[in-house]
Amino acid sequence: MQEDHGHRWLRWPSDPTRARLGFGADYNPEQWPRHVWDEDMRAMRAAGANIVSLAIFSWARIQPSEDVWDFTWLDEVMDLLHGNGIAVDLATATASPPPWLTTLHPQILPVDHDGRTVWHGARQHWRPTSPVFREHALRLTRALAERYAGHPALAAWHVNNELGCHNVYDYSDDAAAAFRVWLRERYRTLEALNEAWATTFWSQGYSDWGQIIPPRIVTSHPNPTQQLDFKRFSSDALKEHLRAERDVLREVTPGIPVTTNFMVMGETKGMNYADWAAEIDFVANDHYVLPGPQSREELSFSANLTGNLAGGRPWYLMEHSTSAVNWQPVNVAKASGELARDSLTHVAHGADAVCFFQWRQSAAGAEKYHSAMVPHAGEDSAVFRAVVDLGARLRALDGVAGTSRTPARAAVVFDWESWWTAELDSHPTDRLRYRQEALDWYTALLNLGIRADVVPTSAPLERYDLLVAPILHVMPGALAERLRGYVAGGGHLVTTYFSGIVDEHDRVWLGGYPGALRDLLGIRIEEFAPLLDGQSVELDNGTTGTLWTDRIDLTDPATEVLAWYKTGEQTGRAAITRRQAGAGSAAYVSTRLGAAGLTTVLADLAAHAGVTGELPEPLRGHVELAVRGDYWFLINRTGTPLDTTAVTGERVGTAHQPLEPHGVQIVYRGAG
Ligand code: GAL
Repeated sequence: MQEDHGHRWLRWPSDPTRARLGFGADYNPEQWPRHVWDEDMRAMRAAGANIVSLAIFSWARIQPSEDVWDFTWLDEVMDLLHGNGIAVDLATATASPPPWLTTLHPQILPVDHDGRTVWHGARQHWRPTSPVFREHALRLTRALAERYAGHPALAAWHVNNELGCHNVYDYSDDAAAAFRVWLRERYRTLEALNEAWATTFWSQGYSDWGQIIPPRIVTSHPNPTQQLDFKRFSSDALKEHLRAERDVLREVTPGIPVTTNFMVMGETKGMNYADWAAEIDFVANDHYVLPGPQSREELSFSANLTGNLAGGRPWYLMEHSTSAVNWQPVNVAKASGELARDSLTHVAHGADAVCFFQWRQSAAGAEKYHSAMVPHAGEDSAVFRAVVDLGARLRALDGVAGTSRTPARAAVVFDWESWWTAELDSHPTDRLRYRQEALDWYTALLNLGIRADVVPTSAPLERYDLLVAPILHVMPGALAERLRGYVAGGGHLVTTYFSGIVDEHDRVWLGGYPGALRDLLGIRIEEFAPLLDGQSVELDNGTTGTLWTDRIDLTDPATEVLAWYKTGEQTGRAAITRRQAGAGSAAYVSTRLGAAGLTTVLADLAAHAGVTGELPEPLRGHVELAVRGDYWFLINRTGTPLDTTAVTGERVGTAHQPLEPHGVQIVYRGAG
C-alpha cells in the first residue's frame, strides 16, 4: 500500500467525475432529537453543504459497553446524508474513550508531568502508547470500517481527531516503556545514548536502559537532549497511532482515502507535521483565528504552511469557526465579512474544502458558546445568511478545485525541531518565541507585497531565490551543507540570531557562534547579549531591536554591514550583515526587529535577491496575493476599498469593483 498514497483526494459519491470545493462541518446529530435531523438536511441543502465529518465523539453511543454495539442511529444518519447528496468524512470515533473503558482499564488514562492521573470527564484522556487503548481503538476502527465499507456516502476516513490536542505529553509507565524502545531504535547502544545526551554532565550516565524515564518532575533543569528526544518520541507515538488506525482502514476499505486533522495554528507545537504529512492520503487542517494585531497574517501563515506540508497540492480545511470560539479568555465574534474572507484565504492557499466546527451550535456541554453554521438564533440569523452566501460563492469556484499552489520566489523556512529546541529552558533568554519571529518575517513579506511560501526544511529549498530562515537553531551538518550549497548555487539566504547553534543532539557547534553557519555568514560571535524586558536598542537604519543582540566580529572581507547598532552595549558594532558568496549571499539579523522593522530591512534584502512583488505597485502590501495555477486570489488587507482593475482577468464569483475592505477577489487569468 505504501507506494500508492501521497495524494488521493476524497471521492465525491454523488458524482465522482465532477471537481468541486467541499463545504460543510463537523456534524454531531447524536446531540439532537431525531426530528432535528430532518431540519438539518433541509438547511444543509439550503446552505449548499456537500460534506460533513461524522461520529468524531460517538464512541460511547456506538459502543455503550464492551460487547454492546449500536450502529442503528449511525446507519440512519449515513443514509439520510446520502439521500440529500451530502458526502461523509467518517471518523473512527476513537478520540474520546467512553467511561466504561477507562473504568475497566484505568491504565489507559494519561499521567501528567507531575505524576497526576488525567481522568475521564472531558475528552482525549488516553495514553498514546497504551496497548490496551490501542486494542480497543482498533477494534472500533475495524467495526466501523467493516460496517460502512460499501456505504455510498463514505468519501474519506477521519482518523481519531486532532491527535495530540490534549494528550501529546504523557509521562506514564507505558510512555516510559515505549520511550525506551524508541531510544534503543535511535541509538542502538547505551554508550551512544549517553554520548548524545551528554550524560557526563551532572552525573546522569545510564548503565541500564531500564533507568531511563520521561522528563518527569525534577529538581532543576532537566537534561535538554532528553527533553528534545521526548518531544520527538511523543510526536512519533501519536504518529504510530495514526498509522495503526490507518492500516486497519486501508486493509478493510482500500479505495477510501484516509486523513486526520492537523492543528497548524498558533503555538500548537507538539506534533511534527512535516514528518506526519506523508502518512495520510491528503492533508487536513483545523485553524482558528487568534486575537491580536497579526491575526490574519497568522491565518495566512498557517494556511500557507499547511499547503506546503501538502507538497503544494490541495488540502482540506476540516475546521474553522463561523464566528466566536469558546476557549479563549474573551471570545470575540467575527465582524461582518470576516467569515468569507477567512474561508477564502484558506482556499487561496490551496484548501479544496471549507468546513467548520460545527454544523449546529450545541445547546449544552462545554462548547455551547462556540459558534456554528446554524447558531442558537437559528437560520434567521446573520451567521446563517453569511454561510449561505459563502456556499454560493464556493460553488462558483469549482474551477479552482484540484489546482495546486504556484510556488513563490521567496520562502520562510519553518522547522519543528528548531521550534522545540530554541524554546527549551536554561537558555540565554526564555522570552524567545520561534513562531512569532517566523510570523514577523512573513508579515514583513506581506507588507512588501512579496508572495512567499512557508516551507519545512524538507521542501525543495533550491527553487527559491530568497530563503528566510529565522532562528534556524538546530543545524545538523547535512542541513548546513545544503544551505552552503544553496548560497553557492546563487540563492540568497537570510537568517537570524540563535541560528546554526547546535547539532541534532542539541550540542553546540564550537569555535564561536553561529557555529555551523559562521563561515557562510562571514561573522563570529563570542558571546550572546540578550536584552532585558523593556530594553531596546536603536539601529542606524531607523529600526529598533529588542530581545536579543550579538557582539559580532566580521571575519571575511566579503561581509558587508547593512546596519550598525547606534545605542546600547553593541554601539558601533554590526547589527545586520550580508556576505556575498559567488552569485548568492548570506545575511544575518542579530536582533528582534518585529514586523515593522523587518519590513524596512527586507526591502533591501529582497531587492538584492531580485525578488519583487507581482502585483501592480500601488496594490503591493495592501493586497495579499496567492496563486493557484490560473487563479489569482486578491485579499484586501486594509479597511478601505481598493481599485484592482490593473489586475486583468475574469472575476470569478465577484464581478464588482472595487475590492471591498477585507474582501477577496478571485481572478481567472487563464483564457486569453
Ligand atoms: C477543535 C476540536 C473540535 C472543537 C473545536 C472548537 O480543537 O477538534 O472538536 O472542540 O476545536 O474550536
